[in-house]
Amino acid sequence: LIVPPTLPALADKHIVITAGPTREALDPVRYLTNHSSGKMGYAIAAAAAKAGAKVTLISGPTVLPVPQGISVHKVESAAQMHQCVMAEMPTCDIFIATAAVADYRCAQVAEQKIKKNSDELTLTFVKNPDILKDVATLAEAPFTLGFAAETQDIEHYARQKMANKKLDMIAANDVSNADIGFNSDQNALLVLWQDGQEALPIASKDKLAEQLVTLLAKRFEEKQK
Ligand code: CTP
Ligand code: CA
Repeated sequence: LIVPPTLPALADKHIVITAGPTREALDPVRYLTNHSSGKMGYAIAAAAAKAGAKVTLISGPTVLPVPQGISVHKVESAAQMHQCVMAEMPTCDIFIATAAVADYRCAQVAEQKIKKNSDELTLTFVKNPDILKDVATLAEAPFTLGFAAETQDIEHYARQKMANKKLDMIAANDVSNADIGFNSDQNALLVLWQDGQEALPIASKDKLAEQLVTLLAKRFEEKQK
């Protein structure tokens, strides 16, 4: 795949991208999170901006530098990410969900630091809102691209996620392969849409991001017809 400097289908389109992990507070000094580095989302944001789109990146905590020419909102929890994403939706043409959103948050965040005054500790968690699903089921939903982290039957589970969340596209990665994914600089993706698919073999996240944005532009253009 050769990526042209700009992709006409994306020119001046508003693309909103979520990236990184979320942090769910347990008490004033502790939180629950995951190993997402944010690298894939930041690389997609850079590729989309290079292609000519107006990019808004909504990022959980990461140590990554912000790519040039991109508007960034830093958030911590899934609830904050949800609120920030929804505020961008009135002007959004394309939504890309790369964030590893925590599926659960504490039912009740302790107001004071939890003391180690018992031998066992039980915390109750409640489900977070599904940001991607909430976007994709809006009355005037943008074009949606989701991600799926799977360890088995990748195509089957990813197609199921695409259907359940009513997505236009989904990019699946095999998180059982230690060489790629979460903290790695490399990744490989199986990109699926209603009537097609394309495998993007192992490559740097920057190169994959450009290939994925090129595929996205094609599908987006196709849907406008
Ligand atoms: N996602 C989201 N909000 C959530 C959970 C997930 O926006 N609360 C998005 C992710 O950014 C990703 C997609 O949904 O694009 C799939 O995330 P994944 O964790 O693979 O799937 P889940 O729907 O959370 O299901 P499960 O973790 O049980 O496989
Ligand atoms: Ca999940």
